[in-house]
Amino acid sequence: MSLHEEVNKRKTFAIISHPDAGKTTLTERLLLFGNLIRSAGTVKGKKSGKYATSDWMEIEKQRGISVTSSVMNFPYKDYQVNILDTPGHEDFSEDTYRTLTAVDSVVMIIDATKGIEAQTKKLFKVCRMRGIPIFTFINKLDREGREPLELLEEIEEVLDIETYPMNWPAGMGKRFLGIFDRNDKQFVQFNGNGEETYISYTDLDKPEHRELVSKEAYQLAEDELLLLDEAGDGFSSESVLNGEQTPVFFGSALAPFGVETFFDTFISMAPAPNPRKSTAGVVQPDSADFSGFIFKIQANMNPAHRDRVAFLRICSGKFERGMNVKLARTNKAIKLAQTQQFVASSRDTVEEAYAGDIIGIYDPNVYRIGDTLIEGKKQFEYDELPQFPPELFKKVSAKNVMKAKQFRKGIEQLVQEGAIQLYKDHRSEFNILGAVGELQYEVFQHRMKNEYNVEVMFESIGERIPRWLKDDKIDKSLFDERNILVKDREDNYVVLFKNDFSLKWFQDKHPKIELIDLLEVN
Ligand code: G4P
Repeated sequence: MSLHEEVNKRKTFAIISHPDAGKTTLTERLLLFGNLIRSAGTVKGKKSGKYATSDWMEIEKQRGISVTSSVMNFPYKDYQVNILDTPGHEDFSEDTYRTLTAVDSVVMIIDATKGIEAQTKKLFKVCRMRGIPIFTFINKLDREGREPLELLEEIEEVLDIETYPMNWPAGMGKRFLGIFDRNDKQFVQFNGNGEETYISYTDLDKPEHRELVSKEAYQLAEDELLLLDEAGDGFSSESVLNGEQTPVFFGSALAPFGVETFFDTFISMAPAPNPRKSTAGVVQPDSADFSGFIFKIQANMNPAHRDRVAFLRICSGKFERGMNVKLARTNKAIKLAQTQQFVASSRDTVEEAYAGDIIGIYDPNVYRIGDTLIEGKKQFEYDELPQFPPELFKKVSAKNVMKAKQFRKGIEQLVQEGAIQLYKDHRSEFNILGAVGELQYEVFQHRMKNEYNVEVMFESIGERIPRWLKDDKIDKSLFDERNILVKDREDNYVVLFKNDFSLKWFQDKHPKIELIDLLEVN
């Protein structure tokens, strides 16, 4: 198979959802399709004390390794699938955002009974800003949920994206009959036993389907479908690939129902690895020389194992174990001998991989997040990874003042590595750490102690809304403890607003001061 063919069969995507929307259940279904597990429930089941393969956090904790997002890869039909997990709730961290820089598309799961929830919205904003194609799976149709039209309206309004329902549900909960598959022009009947019956539109008026079509839920759905055909947005694959329209699928990950159809359609529509921007122009994924960038570094939480793994997204060419590459930042040569590929819960040594794939490489403490690795004579770096706005802020200091030197060294290195963000109070030079989630503080504290032998103390200044100032000639007396003025690592001024109200009040009062929301510019 040619390099071009190998690269083009790669589908690399992340699944995003609010906790409990069904990400684990759906991921497990996909692993089943990939023959990575034999039956549903073998890896899943919080109640049985087991966990899904994608819930790596627990597994890694047991092994004494910290992990914040994981990778699963497997062949499916003619494709090679790479799924990147994006943990939610307390495990949410900057890594979750950064994972989105390493994928070519995203699957968003929404719980039909709940609609869009806060966390989904944040991740979604990053996808929109970066133009990542988004495919939506509305889950839990086997439960009484919200009206499908209302859900679509909410997606369009809250997330500011066009929707195109690929299928349309007839009823839900106890009245759930199945879905109209608009793509293949067939009705997929829900039998409740995990099996699906496909009835082509042309066969629906046959006598054996009279009972089905006379049901109220069926007729209502048919009317709605007519409405969508006439008044809804038309399907545009161009808009989908630009991230301006999201194809929407309805189904149930648990039943399961509509999952296979969803996955087949998704996988055929999802983009193959994209060309990437670099300092030497756009790099094509099927260009001969290997290149990639590091989007995550995973430090081992276990002091007995100091090794770290850097997650590399291959952006061009072919990787072969043992190959020589160079680290663009330092121009140093590196032999990539110790590499891992992530196949569900086991880690295998990877011998070869192609653009689009994600591999883990052993990090002898030389890599930083955003680093570019390249093969051959060319010299370039991939675009810097965007900064993502932290939400939780804490003042940090060393418990023992005698440890000031190690403290400084530790902070400097962990910040450089991208584990956490550092700010300085513009007056007191006090160190303020910023993180997207609490987990980042835990990891920071742990690593400071284990790697730098410093115990740290935090003083929370709570959740804050950070806004970068466009102009650094600013009247500093406008800020106080309520709205704190700090400097980031690049010496840019940032205001940590106490809450939404303070932010709005400030904007109204000083309309000329331009405030930048990083989520809007990424
Ligand atoms: P997450 O990874 O997004 O957090 O969600 P997960 O798959 O763990 O699903 C959360 C709960 O929702 C689980 O209930 C799961 O069985 C259920 N669920 C997922 N998909 C569907 C669906 O299509 N229909 C219905 N009715 N339920 C679904 P659980 O195992 O009871 O776990 P928990 O509620 O005790 O956490």
